[in-house]
Amino acid sequence: MRQFPLSPCKGNSWQRALEAFLFCCLHPVNWQTLMYMRVRLRDCRVGLRETPRMSAFPRAGDVDDMKAEGNPDAVTPTRKIGLRRLAAVGLIASSTFSGLLLLSGCKSKISDRPIGNPVAIHVPLGLPPVPIPPGNPPTADSIALGRKLFYDVRLSKDNTVACAFCHNPSLGFTDGMGISRGVGGMMGVRNAPTVVNAAYLPLQFWDGRAVSLEEQAASPIADPVEMNQTHEVSVSKLAKDSTYKAMFLKTFGPGPVTIGRVENALASFERTILSGNSAFDRYQFGGDKTALTPAQIRGLALFQDPKRGNCAVCHSIDATYALFTDGKFHNIGEGVGDDGNFKDIGRYHQTKLEADRGAFKTPTLRNIANTGPYMHDGSLKTLKEVVDFYAGGGNSNPYLDKEIRAIALSGQERGDLVEFLKSLTGAMPPNVGPPAKD
Ligand code: HEC
Ligand code: HEC
Repeated sequence: MRQFPLSPCKGNSWQRALEAFLFCCLHPVNWQTLMYMRVRLRDCRVGLRETPRMSAFPRAGDVDDMKAEGNPDAVTPTRKIGLRRLAAVGLIASSTFSGLLLLSGCKSKISDRPIGNPVAIHVPLGLPPVPIPPGNPPTADSIALGRKLFYDVRLSKDNTVACAFCHNPSLGFTDGMGISRGVGGMMGVRNAPTVVNAAYLPLQFWDGRAVSLEEQAASPIADPVEMNQTHEVSVSKLAKDSTYKAMFLKTFGPGPVTIGRVENALASFERTILSGNSAFDRYQFGGDKTALTPAQIRGLALFQDPKRGNCAVCHSIDATYALFTDGKFHNIGEGVGDDGNFKDIGRYHQTKLEADRGAFKTPTLRNIANTGPYMHDGSLKTLKEVVDFYAGGGNSNPYLDKEIRAIALSGQERGDLVEFLKSLTGAMPPNVGPPAKD
């Protein structure tokens, strides 16, 4: 828990409310500040004059205790933030803040919200309703615009790389490579995951560094090894094109082309790239018991059995739908080098939590037969290699997920699991391929 400075609980409840307000002006609102305020208000209410465990600055008494314990670093505090000083700083900060807010409000009247009627996204058998962010309801126009952008090479520096270059519909919206290559054949660092059903992911990327499809969409454009084109250049290229100009106007109303509008349109299109209604869905949710072969039915049982394959603990199958991902991050012992270290520390990049070292997001398994090579580093070429990897229990390392362990699987059982994985290929919806040329 981060520590915050304290002033004594002086004054009546109005003054304490003012203190709370000023505190919130001075600190970013996150769980730490909220937790601090909760404890502080409670302690003041019950009459505690101070909350020592939350204090950043030791009080004189504490320092004496620390010195008595032989701590030479204990220094008598010289800094005290009193209510008055806090109020003064708070007042200045809040007036500057509201001034800036006013200014930016006046400057940016440009809305990134589509203006047309929102459309319902049709969901195939085996998938739940698509979550839609309140600020970006999909419209027929925003989806069509996003589709055009997704297949447009002009979003890259040398006009050779579109999103679809690495998320190619004929390869299950991946690129068929171990590690992606972008503009000028520049080598990326990870395998391109499919964008199929990415609409359901709570966090995007192998390490979860983007919280939404909107936030994700602009990053490959500017990424030096992917499309390598600044947002300003991308926007100005689009703004010069009369077809785009008309499409942006129709979708978002008057105003310039902005990167926010590009992001929103791309995200809305991606929300339509859904795959379900596979043989597995027809068997599991459609009541068609002939949809799977006997080998696939045996594979499904292994996949779900916690004492055998134990795959569904992460690649989830729910009662009425199946995403084949829990949206969480796990270390399955993949990507450990000969020296025993991770070549890529994955989720740790974002959280700096030891437990997240070498953890990656559980990928969906839908259309998995079409999206090899596999894993964040593309190191496993075939589904058989993947199943053999799991049977071996992953590379041992201190952060290995507790659900990963060696599984005794016969040759036939391994084959059954592979057959089951092949049953997850579903038809793509009709309007996600390249748009007709204009
Ligand atoms: C040069 C290849 C390349 C291009 C071009 C590219 N991507 Fe990606 N994409 C990747 C790679 C590699 C990742 C995984 C990166 C990571 O996790 O660090 C990724 C991840 C994603 C994800 C996250 C999926 C998931 O399961 O977390 C989405 C969504 C996505 N890209 C959409 C797009 C869009 C939209 C564009 C165009 C604006 C685009 N990509 C352009 C290679 C590419
Ligand atoms: C502890 C959670 C967990 C369990 C259990 C688990 N997986 Fe995974 N699976 C993951 C994660 C995380 C990844 C990505 C790991 C990486 O790239 O380093 C993954 C990757 C995969 C991939 C590659 C997907 C792709 O697009 O590259 C396949 C296939 C797969 N798992 C199948 C299985 C099967 C079959 C089982 C059971 C034998 C299983 N998984 C058990 C979490 C799990």
